[in-house]
Amino acid sequence: MELKLCFSFLLLHVIHVQSSRQWLINVPRKIYALETSCLVIPCIYSIPWRVSTPNLRKRTGLWKIGKKIVATTNYNWQLPKEYKYRSDFLGDLHSLNCTMMLEDVRRTDVGPFYFRIEIDPVKSYSFKKNSVHIDVTSNPTPPSMSVQRMDGMVASCFVTHPCPTNPPKFAWNRPERATRRSNRVNMWLWKTTSILYFSPKPGAFNQTLNCTVHYSGGKQATSSMIIP
Ligand SMILES: *[C@@H]1O[C@H](CO)[C@@H](O)[C@H](O)[C@H]1NC(C)=O
Ligand SMILES: *[C@@H]1O[C@H](CO)[C@@H](O)[C@H](O)[C@H]1NC(C)=O
Ligand SMILES: *[C@@H]1O[C@H](CO)[C@@H](O)[C@H](O)[C@H]1NC(C)=O
Repeated sequence: MELKLCFSFLLLHVIHVQSSRQWLINVPRKIYALETSCLVIPCIYSIPWRVSTPNLRKRTGLWKIGKKIVATTNYNWQLPKEYKYRSDFLGDLHSLNCTMMLEDVRRTDVGPFYFRIEIDPVKSYSFKKNSVHIDVTSNPTPPSMSVQRMDGMVASCFVTHPCPTNPPKFAWNRPERATRRSNRVNMWLWKTTSILYFSPKPGAFNQTLNCTVHYSGGKQATSSMIIP
């Protein structure tokens, strides 16, 4: 339900941006990220008709901080050492998609990041007013846990994060295999949930159930519950 609403919201945004004829962009203002992990900046843009015709073949997309290039669609360009191998331009410019990814997030990656488009031969535009700020924390959030007694037991464990391309993994202190799924919470935030079905040993009291989340990049956090 929440998911459906969210998708129709995004779709409306895409339609709105595509049918307009101005320099427009839709990006989040702020993203909360975990140090060493990754983040995706979702991004769609539009350009004025007078610029987009007739010669729109050659476009270059850039993500920048100040004068520094963080990511680009032009692989011939050199990125500064601090972003090389850490950034990736995921979006397809011709579908008006300027989505970017940053891995191994550092405490200094606060931004503001902005998107710039260069259109052959002379026309360029920087979306500086719509820059993206990153709030980097170094403490991984422990997962939220719940356990329910059904036929057997059903335990679930989830975290939210900004990195759909590389979602966190979960480990339980039980041998049963868990399933994992992700869904979108808002424009930039995702929720990844692990669900475990198990049957506790009859007569075993006060057993601890642990769920450990392993974020991409290696940070982890554990939550525990006594099995009711
Ligand atoms: C933009 O591109 C990214 C990466 O390919 C994709 O995940 C996302 O769904 C695209 N966004 C839209 C609005 O199409
Ligand atoms: C389970 O924990 C409760 C509360 O800590 C304690 O009173 C009880 O004795 C424990 N039961 C067993 C079998 O260990
Ligand atoms: C579960 O986590 C607690 C601390 O959160 C730890 O003391 C305990 O050893 C863990 N149990 C298992 C079986 O991993």
